[in-house]
Amino acid sequence: MNVLLLGSGGREHAMAWKMAQSEKLTNLFIAPGNAGTSLHGKNVPINPNDFVEVKSFLLAEKIDMVVVGPEEPLVRGVKDFIINDPEIAHIAVIGPGKEGARLEGSKEFAKDFMFRHNIPTAGYKSVNKNNLDEGLAYLESIKAPYVLKADGLAAGKGVLILEDLEEAKAELTAMLEGKFGAASSVVVIEEFLKGIELSVFALTDGHSYVILPEAKDYKRIGEGDTGLNTGGMGAVSPVPFADEAFMKKVEERVVRPTVEGLIADNIPYKGFVFIGLMNVDGEPFVIEYNVRMGDPETEVVMPRIKSDLVELFEAVAAGNLKSQVIETEPQTVTTVMLVSGGYPGSYEKGKTITGLDKTADCLVFHAGTTQKDDDIKTNGGRVIAVSAYGANKDEALKKSFKNADLIQFDGKYFRSDIGFDL
Ligand code: AMP
Ligand code: GLY
Repeated sequence: MNVLLLGSGGREHAMAWKMAQSEKLTNLFIAPGNAGTSLHGKNVPINPNDFVEVKSFLLAEKIDMVVVGPEEPLVRGVKDFIINDPEIAHIAVIGPGKEGARLEGSKEFAKDFMFRHNIPTAGYKSVNKNNLDEGLAYLESIKAPYVLKADGLAAGKGVLILEDLEEAKAELTAMLEGKFGAASSVVVIEEFLKGIELSVFALTDGHSYVILPEAKDYKRIGEGDTGLNTGGMGAVSPVPFADEAFMKKVEERVVRPTVEGLIADNIPYKGFVFIGLMNVDGEPFVIEYNVRMGDPETEVVMPRIKSDLVELFEAVAAGNLKSQVIETEPQTVTTVMLVSGGYPGSYEKGKTITGLDKTADCLVFHAGTTQKDDDIKTNGGRVIAVSAYGANKDEALKKSFKNADLIQFDGKYFRSDIGFDL
């Protein structure tokens, strides 16, 4: 099987690493990939959002399957583009079409979907310029803190959590006036959920599903979960509070109704569903859907999957996922993200990375890196995820941190408290 993986982050390196272990794989290409993905396949300089270029490559390399890493090509309709073109319609795509991708691309769509299918989530009100009055009245009717979400994709920055009612009203107005561009022409106001978050992942063929190992992600830049939001600074899997009883509730109240809801709404969906959950006193509530894997969660989830990922993808494409059981690794896996100084604000790229050859007993997943002659250089805010196995969280973290210390680049920063609240 010839596979094209779209994307260039730590998630894609971890998926490339995992797929490369499959006997079903003939050739793996990654577009555009990073210095790490090139260890497991061939990087190709193609923009995943340039579908015409993607098509030429699919034909030239006789690709059988496209695995879509990030959300943007999905939200832009890469799947629809492929299945509607007779020359490439036979190619399997792991990732939903444009309609299914709205679960991530539109917060309003996702909330309506959850309410329609009785999936537990915070109360909400969707507001646009024409019903601003109703939005302001809704804010008055709920308690602080106030959660305001830009409806569309806003590069992870479109969510505001505010303590003060007047500030929330002013921000709501500013958002509708274009604070986040077109993404906030609709704003979802939500009730605040108090609890501890985790990420749950399902892979579905549109009829049945398998639940992958869950993970806890650390989103803030600073120790103790302080400071600005990032893409994610580290992760741990399994999550101790996601015990059998909790995961049973997640499956019965969230995962199954989600897949059944997609069927009821006539939305074909073959791909990952990433459910951001809040555990509120032992009860799961959905915070958000994503239509892809999480990053850095993938860097702990892939090492915990024992089953053949390419075989799972084939079953998704063929619609017989029901025949698959997923085998998981009982050990704990942790990851610590090394980031560029200044991230998530402005930062410099092009710093030489050294010490990679000194690392041992860990999995080094590249995120923002690039190969320049013999050197590996930083090429993004999140640079490298250092994953490690252990009998428990502490043992795994010890290895992640030890190796994180061995890798050097100018301005390197990482959180030394990943897993602190577990
Ligand atoms: P989202 O993009 O919807 O995942 O929101 C970003 C982050 O904001 C989440 O990871 C949560 O930490 C927080 N958040 C979102 N919605 C809520 C809510 N209803 N209650 C509490 N925190 C929330
Ligand atoms: N780590 C959270 C995400 O991938 O959205």
